[in-house]
Amino acid sequence: MKIRPTEVTLGATVYDIDLRRLDDRTATEIVDAWHEYAVLVFPKQHLDDKAQIAFSRLFGNLERLLTASIEAENPEVFRVANVRPDGTIDKPGESYELFHRGNQYWHTDSSYKLIPSKASVLRAHTVPPNGGETQFADMRAAYDALDHDRKARLKNKIVVHDYIYSQGLIGGLELMTEKETAALPPVEHPLIQTHPDTGRTCLFAGRHASHIVGEDLTKSRTELAALTEAACQPPRVYTHKWRDGDIAVWDNRCVLHRGQPWPQDQPRIMFRTTVAGQAEHNEWMIAGDGAGSS
Ligand code: OGA
Ligand code: MN
Repeated sequence: MKIRPTEVTLGATVYDIDLRRLDDRTATEIVDAWHEYAVLVFPKQHLDDKAQIAFSRLFGNLERLLTASIEAENPEVFRVANVRPDGTIDKPGESYELFHRGNQYWHTDSSYKLIPSKASVLRAHTVPPNGGETQFADMRAAYDALDHDRKARLKNKIVVHDYIYSQGLIGGLELMTEKETAALPPVEHPLIQTHPDTGRTCLFAGRHASHIVGEDLTKSRTELAALTEAACQPPRVYTHKWRDGDIAVWDNRCVLHRGQPWPQDQPRIMFRTTVAGQAEHNEWMIAGDGAGSS
């Protein structure tokens, strides 16, 4: 395989590889490169669900969908699309469209869970000719770029992540059952985290971050928004222009991502698998008082 790093602080494209046929050595090389670059893109792999699931398992166990009432096809593969399985295209403002529109704000997948995800794998099935890129921002480099005083001030802050808050700002929650929304209470995560595999220090926030524990709600919300805005700037942002069949895998522990808009009358169909985080990486939540709820 050939690895070509991007010109920004994260991301690399991997060529000369067939993700359906990986020997152990290549699998290890992929995971090592992923730790270094945080986002890997594999052009034109054209995997099906089964092959995507198998590839995703290189990184760990997979999450099952929280929203089975919406996406019932396969419990591990999340359909991220403006085309429903019956072929109809969503119209702007409809519940389904709003449900997915949250993807267009900087976020890290599943940060609203007690144990946030480790990685996400996204496969491009059908992409529009213009728009619909996905952007990735490097939260390791974003932390490194903060000045010493800021780092010290942010050091021990705990952030409340809340899906009902973040999705409530956009809409579409009515698609979920009461049981599904009840299963998503607010959770707490440190704003500054040490990456368990690389030891690098990272900022951890994004759109599900509601406010900072023990601080004024409005002020801390404004601070988190400003922090994200400043973090997601060049040279820390990689924009991937998709082609059908591409696969990308990113590290949710140190990368924020967002989708770019595209003409809504054009189909865009992507499939995502999500690799679950590990409980032992969240010992602070179990050990600390408050035990991860607020
Ligand atoms: C996702 C996501 C962005 C995109 O699937 O988690 O944020 O560009 N997708 O589709
Ligand atoms: Mn996402």
